[in-house]
Amino acid sequence: MIKSLKKRITKISCIGAGYVGGPTMAVIADQCPHIKVVVLDINEQRIKAWNSDNYDKLPVFEPGLKEIVLRSRGKNLFFSTEINNNIADSDIVFLSVNTPTKLSGVGSGHASDLRWIEKCARQVALASSGHTIVVEKSTLPVRTAQTIKTILGSSSNKKKSFSVISNPEFLAEGSAIKDLQNPDRVLIGGEDPVSIEQVADIYRHWIDDKKIIRTNLWSSELSKLTANAFLAQRISSINSVAAICEETGANINEVSLAIGSDTRIGNKFIKSGPGFGGSCFKKDLLNLIYLCKYFGLKEVANYWLSVVSLNSWNQNRISEIVVNKLFGTLAEKKIVILGFAFKANTNDTRESSAITISKNLLIEGAKLKIHDPKVSSDQIKAEFNLIDNKSNYQNIYKEDINNGSWEKIDNIYDAFIDADAAIVLTEWEEYSSLDWEKISKLMRKPSWVFDTRSIVNNNIISKTDINLWRIGIGPN
Ligand code: NAD
Ligand code: UDX
Repeated sequence: MIKSLKKRITKISCIGAGYVGGPTMAVIADQCPHIKVVVLDINEQRIKAWNSDNYDKLPVFEPGLKEIVLRSRGKNLFFSTEINNNIADSDIVFLSVNTPTKLSGVGSGHASDLRWIEKCARQVALASSGHTIVVEKSTLPVRTAQTIKTILGSSSNKKKSFSVISNPEFLAEGSAIKDLQNPDRVLIGGEDPVSIEQVADIYRHWIDDKKIIRTNLWSSELSKLTANAFLAQRISSINSVAAICEETGANINEVSLAIGSDTRIGNKFIKSGPGFGGSCFKKDLLNLIYLCKYFGLKEVANYWLSVVSLNSWNQNRISEIVVNKLFGTLAEKKIVILGFAFKANTNDTRESSAITISKNLLIEGAKLKIHDPKVSSDQIKAEFNLIDNKSNYQNIYKEDINNGSWEKIDNIYDAFIDADAAIVLTEWEEYSSLDWEKISKLMRKPSWVFDTRSIVNNNIISKTDINLWRIGIGPN
């Protein structure tokens, strides 16, 4: 066991200025004005954007974030590419870099790609001085702390010492600031009780100690992966029930209400939709599946694999429904995509169901008019270019996909001119109050609206000549 003396924390660095590093450090700086917080990244553009004078240009959109950055930036919150200098005089270094799914080699398609975490550990080993607490903030496979400890421990400079702490982040995008300011719990895993308490001290500035859970390193790492797996499993479960509702005449919203009223089940994460997106659920499930296989737990791996498979099936099933309702062909048909972000109140599109569904429709020959209040045309293009090598998109539509077959539209009503159908894929507030009377006059007949988020007002739309399909709602 590592032993360290409790020292006053005056400076924290965080490597990785992304969706987690940026907002998390902004909240820590806001709550701990006596601590200097520096967020570091190799991506110069990202750091430039964090330092932008135009607060609407911050690289991450989160309600409440820009106000916090405005309060703290330049006082005790800094964004910088000067990584080594800042590591050198930091008491704590958070590692908040990306850990995507490995795309080649051993574990390809399942295991986490830990190259960025390893690089950070090496950099901390080299640049640090004195005693440094290294905190895993990224989501990591269980036992990664062992690798980090080994790298840090191989430093030949005896004046350096380290303790490794696991402190996974549970924020959800779109509500990141609220989640950070008032989390359900803070999880701190480690071996050195002094370092655990030093990290806990930071959170105690605004979070009740009763919410701080202390565990060993491996429980902490594994809890993060399994928390995401449980949440994703609930979404696949409810989406499977939505499909049964559509066949039987049951209504998914009524079923969700009925089952969620059982306090043992609870009413959160049982909203049916196009399928879970985001950078975490699929990646973390795949990683868990990889670990299960690695430890010889084939049945356990298959159980979690079914959660991922159901999600892909659900995304594909929605595009098939659109094709079937539009007479089996989408050739030259104009379809409006309402929402490209993976959920409302974020500009993040990673693993958004809109990507798979849009690509499926493009393959059928549709012309897409894509609207999203926070996602740029360049970002949509980048997502379409990230073509999965194993999929049939590669050969058929890779060149065509960005060649006039889709267009980003800023004025929603313009998107509907001569459109055959619209699909609500993100639950942006503004989509729940659209003027369907006006829209019905703009669309080509017969016109369809496919609501995968249950936000369209059925009473209003039923007064128009638009046909409405709603997820999880079958024929009466
Ligand atoms: P991100 O891709 O938005 O940000 C990661 C940043 O790390 C990038 O800006 C990248 O340039 C930087 N980086 C990579 N290697 C670096 C290096 N060697 N030196 C300096 N900078 C480096 O990722 P994210 O969404 O913030 O996720 C980070 C981690 O947090 C992941 O492990 C993820 O699973 C986990 N997580 C994410 C969320 C979420 O909602 N996005 C929630 C909880 C946990
Ligand atoms: C998730 C976890 O919630 C969070 O704790 C973790 O730190 C990171 O991963 P995030 O992916 O940002 O957060 O958003 P989340 O709210 O979990 O939504 C993920 C996906 O599930 C979205 O596509 C969302 O639309 C979908 N979802 C969520 C549903 O379809 N139904 C629901 O009931 C809830």
